[in-house]
Amino acid sequence: MPDAVAMNPASEPAALLQVKELRGGYGEGRVLHGVSFDVPAGEVVTLLGRNGAGKTTTMKAIMGILARRSGSIRFDGVETIELPARKIARLGLGYVPEERGIFSSLTVLENLMLPPQVKPGGMSVEVVYELFPNLKERWRSPGTKLSGGEQQMLAVGRILRTGAKLLLLDEPTEGLAPVIVQQIGKTIERLKKEGFTILLVEQNFRFTQTVADRHYIVQEGRIVDTFMNDEIDSNLNKLQGYLGV
Ligand SMILES: Nc1ncnc2c1ncn2[C@@H]1O[C@H](COP(=O)(O)OP(=O)(O)OP(=O)(O)O)[C@@H](O)[C@H]1O
Ligand SMILES: [Mg+2]
Repeated sequence: MPDAVAMNPASEPAALLQVKELRGGYGEGRVLHGVSFDVPAGEVVTLLGRNGAGKTTTMKAIMGILARRSGSIRFDGVETIELPARKIARLGLGYVPEERGIFSSLTVLENLMLPPQVKPGGMSVEVVYELFPNLKERWRSPGTKLSGGEQQMLAVGRILRTGAKLLLLDEPTEGLAPVIVQQIGKTIERLKKEGFTILLVEQNFRFTQTVADRHYIVQEGRIVDTFMNDEIDSNLNKLQGYLGV
């Protein structure tokens, strides 16, 4: 059997998201120097790396909100590198930024209803409330009155309503108490079971180990290594070296 066939068996479908040689940055400064990785459908995939490595910038490039970007980003077979953000979102991508973007003057329900649908089949408010009972209890509270954990749940719930199938979550556990981190982990597991594909940026690899299928290490704007989740324990030293923990 020729090698090319052996390496790319027909049984393995193309990944839902394929990033190749992605370059980009802000103004004159280049941050991404050729980022390449795949996110297979139905998996939870993480980007791990130190502060300033380019994780958030990679997510912004995928969502089309990084003005300067080149290379290739294919989502479900569609090349998106030159599409405007609005069109990229409509393909079924949802982004929860690090800063969560909850409007403090709006209530929980108003925040939930804010983003437009990008695809049919988004979650109803009832299902979002079932997933996050805290939000149901607090549906009339303004954004300012929510805890960090509730804000994170609201930010995720809001994206689930849009019908997005690939979720990009930037440090969802940052600054949250362990019990809330656990709850976020359970939510990610459930979303995976329901068929969502998740790209997760995290500093806390112990957390990602509980939910992820594979991990990519980002360093100075490149992917420098990759591990399947079950390879983490035998590569702890290497990983800690990369992350400086
Ligand atoms: N809006 C911006 N304008 C200019 N430079 C930026 C901007 N945002 C980020 N950078 C720079 O780009 C580089 C990568 O930043 P990025 O936010 O992608 O890192 P990160 O891996 O997400 O880090 P962290 O773990 O701290 O969130 C950093 O050097 C940062 O200073
Ligand atoms: Mg970041």
